[in-house]
Amino acid sequence: MNPVIDVHVGAGAERRLAEDVFDGLTKPFKEIPPKHFYDSRGSELFERICELPEYYPTRAERSILADRAGEIVAAAGDPVELVELGSGSTLKARMLLDAMGEPERYVPVDVSERVVREAAHELADEYPGLEVHGVVGDFERHLGEVPAANGGGRLVALLGGTIGNFPPGTRRRLLRDVAGLLGPEDRFLLGTDLVKDPAVIEAAYNDPGGITAEFNRNLLRVINRELDADFEPDAFQHVAFFDRDREWIEMRLRATRPCRVRVAALGLDVQFAAGEELRTEISAKFTRRRLAADFAAAGLELATLWTDPDGLFAVSLAAPARR
Ligand code: SAH
Ligand code: TRP
Repeated sequence: MNPVIDVHVGAGAERRLAEDVFDGLTKPFKEIPPKHFYDSRGSELFERICELPEYYPTRAERSILADRAGEIVAAAGDPVELVELGSGSTLKARMLLDAMGEPERYVPVDVSERVVREAAHELADEYPGLEVHGVVGDFERHLGEVPAANGGGRLVALLGGTIGNFPPGTRRRLLRDVAGLLGPEDRFLLGTDLVKDPAVIEAAYNDPGGITAEFNRNLLRVINRELDADFEPDAFQHVAFFDRDREWIEMRLRATRPCRVRVAALGLDVQFAAGEELRTEISAKFTRRRLAADFAAAGLELATLWTDPDGLFAVSLAAPARR
């Protein structure tokens, strides 16, 4: 079947980038939200990160799905539809779809148009009976554009630890919005990285080949291209460290010398002092307790949590809370 693809970002997305950059570069501590990493080069670099030996989250999550997909799908009540938020590569979707037997519909939702198009075409070719309905959109704003359920049960998935990229309050709001997509029989599948030895976590975000650094600096290239700015990416150093109190990784870009940056589309000039940092992402690490509390705050109930044999990563199934 030919896939259907709805595009809800485009001109609007540029405006959003402009607003985020205007806010972010005029704050006392400069900061840009991470969804702007993912232009097509950013998505490609992220896929390379996923294959790095140091970047354990992808492998750990895949191993959970490889071992448990059948169990997960059964525990979710044998859904016939998979909605995947921040879908990225199709590998994990395939593991779930294969376990579903005869899935009726797959709905990938991602801000990256390239990600959605590639996934939709690949899976429509590979699964002849499957209806594929891609949504190019921001899951913080466009969950209302996710097509209504077909009738059978659905599984909504947010994998890859992406939920950890949102600060705690926004995280709960997003979970609550996702809960709003669920009928009483539907289930939510969430992938989260777990708290562990900080050295292991920090290594995952500091590969010696510098791919993570390139991914981080790609944000500056996106701003240069989309907003006619003149960042010199090479003047910024990749910094990633585990904040032991907050239990999250912080990704930053540190100016190695004083810089003056002009963002022409905003008529904005900003200064970076030598050593000044721009925060580009956090990646929160979870405990079972934190997960249960976040679910509860969002009107969800943790049903089952699976981990890989080394206890690095968790995949959790949640149901709408009974009221
Ligand atoms: N789920 C995949 C990809 C994780 S990377 C995996 O586990 O490998 C995060 C993905 O989420 C990227 O594809 C990125 O484009 C997408 N993304 C990030 N923020 C988003 C947002 N606000 N709305 C929609 N997609 C988003
Ligand atoms: N969602 C990924 C994570 O939290 C994103 C990521 C991996 C990332 N490596 C990165 C973001 C390096 C910025 C820089 O693990």
